[in-house]
Amino acid sequence: MALRHFLRDMTLLVQDEADPARQQGAAMELLRRLVGQGGWLAPDFSAAGPAFRQVLLYNDPLDRFSLVAFIWGSEARQTPVHDHGIWGVVGVLEGEEISTEMIPDPGGGPMRPGRQDRLQAGEVMLLGAPAYDIHKTANGQPGAPAITIHLYGGNIGSAERRVYDEATSAATVIRSGYDNPVLPNPWSLPVAIFA
Ligand SMILES: [Fe+2]
Repeated sequence: MALRHFLRDMTLLVQDEADPARQQGAAMELLRRLVGQGGWLAPDFSAAGPAFRQVLLYNDPLDRFSLVAFIWGSEARQTPVHDHGIWGVVGVLEGEEISTEMIPDPGGGPMRPGRQDRLQAGEVMLLGAPAYDIHKTANGQPGAPAITIHLYGGNIGSAERRVYDEATSAATVIRSGYDNPVLPNPWSLPVAIFA
């Protein structure tokens, strides 16, 4: 129910509010409520393997928002430095995530770390203005499973964005895609009513 209600509320939000900054502010409160609840992400989508997985939970049919779970496995330490290009909100469902702002050197030197945010379960943060858009993220408790929920103002897996070489600040354009071939069913019921 929590996921279905979240998707309903997000759909109404992007339908009623066109301004990206106001969408992001309201979306943060919806995501805060979602990650404050447990039990809504089925084991098929939340089980941690050794590697890092980007699991698409939902993409708006008009690409106005997407919801992605990052499943941090026992061998997943941190992401490469990357940007997003669209607004984002990050929330922690289980475990802990560290986001470190990274600032490119226009002269081709090493990137410089900026602000760092450490999020515990139930906490949320903004990506992009008024915070920062280029960062790397890490499991706050390396080796322990963690689940972080990422909400974006577009289809983040198909958007053209950049990964950065930390040593040279060089950017490469990528599309990050998603790791799962099927999506969760937000409309599933806990009991088989026709059994
Ligand atoms: Fe990110």
